[in-house]
Amino acid sequence: MPTTLSLRQVQTISVDVRLPSLRILNDRSSYFLSAACPGMNTLANHGYIPRNGIASFEEIVTGAMEAFNVQSGLMEFITAANMMMRGNPFVNKVSIGGSSPLVPPLPGNIGSPHPGGIALHGGFEGDASMTRADAFIGDNRDFQDILYDLDLLQLGKFGDNGPNGNNTVFNVATMIGIKQHNLAMDQAANPQFAVPPRRLSAMFTEASFVLNVFANGTTKQATLPIVGSFFRNQTFPQNWFRAATPVSGSESAGQISAGVPGIVPGRNNEQGVYVADPPPPAPFNASMGCATYWDLLGTMPAGLANTTGLFKQNVDFLVNILFQSVATSPCNQTMLFPFGPNVN
Ligand code: HEM
Repeated sequence: MPTTLSLRQVQTISVDVRLPSLRILNDRSSYFLSAACPGMNTLANHGYIPRNGIASFEEIVTGAMEAFNVQSGLMEFITAANMMMRGNPFVNKVSIGGSSPLVPPLPGNIGSPHPGGIALHGGFEGDASMTRADAFIGDNRDFQDILYDLDLLQLGKFGDNGPNGNNTVFNVATMIGIKQHNLAMDQAANPQFAVPPRRLSAMFTEASFVLNVFANGTTKQATLPIVGSFFRNQTFPQNWFRAATPVSGSESAGQISAGVPGIVPGRNNEQGVYVADPPPPAPFNASMGCATYWDLLGTMPAGLANTTGLFKQNVDFLVNILFQSVATSPCNQTMLFPFGPNVN
């Protein structure tokens, strides 16, 4: 079912669009467009969103719904947040990779001189990923064999038995093992290790995507070759079917996060000790969802709250989507507008 919501297309971009497109098998010639997200890379590689990785809000949401049979809600939330943090909501374009001339700066010196794209560190992109290095350590965009190999050790320990052999099906226990290891390893190795609320929420949702979105719709299993195809090749696996009925994608996030007790939003101090962040102000300290909402709006350029005309209509549209994420939370009486620094 297509989303009924849409942004106004306020401006067309007249630039040469003959840019290198994302290619099947992760062609490195398109590095600047490569995304830290295997889901978005797969959509681009198969043409569910533009192959050059520059997409509108509607293209991403409907592309994800079509390809993966995901419900609209979570996709709208993630895409709205990325559009505001890392794209250009005036022209309704965001790069799934890095900065691109096809996504111009925001009018009125709002935001970075060049919108960074969703792969820019510090939005949702952050530390302790499953298959990408921390930005401070190395390549935070491209698939890293060595990190995936470490993930597979957890599969070998905790995975279910399946058609490809013993311990070859990803399950909740495997994802808990992977996330515990990602967090411990990067906390020790990265002096700038940081896990703000937006990143902590995102990492458990992404782990859940592996089980609930990447799983073959006919068997409901996320097997070794299936997950390898999405992560390594960023393409649909052979004989893969999307979920038969719409999934939210985050079905297992709560269970996975509950399996990693003690992790709270925070960052390493100068001694390399992980210290909890101060809680957000009330009422946003009431739940993890509220803290994430507060943290996200605080990562978006404050200038977005002072726009006019169609630009303002687009910002309001996206801000409303973000507010819906706390509709049933204790902070649902206080709508926030972007209040973050211009460049982050
Ligand atoms: C059903 C759709 C989607 C799926 C299956 C999916 C899957 C994933 C997975 C598995 C990861 C973790 C990569 C890792 O830890 O190595 C990830 C990361 C990421 N995704 Fe997606 N995703 C989807 C939708 C989106 C959307 C709509 C956006 C933004 C418009 C997005 C942006 C990101 C970003 C920025 C990261 C990097 C986070 C990090 O590891 O630092 N994703 N995604």
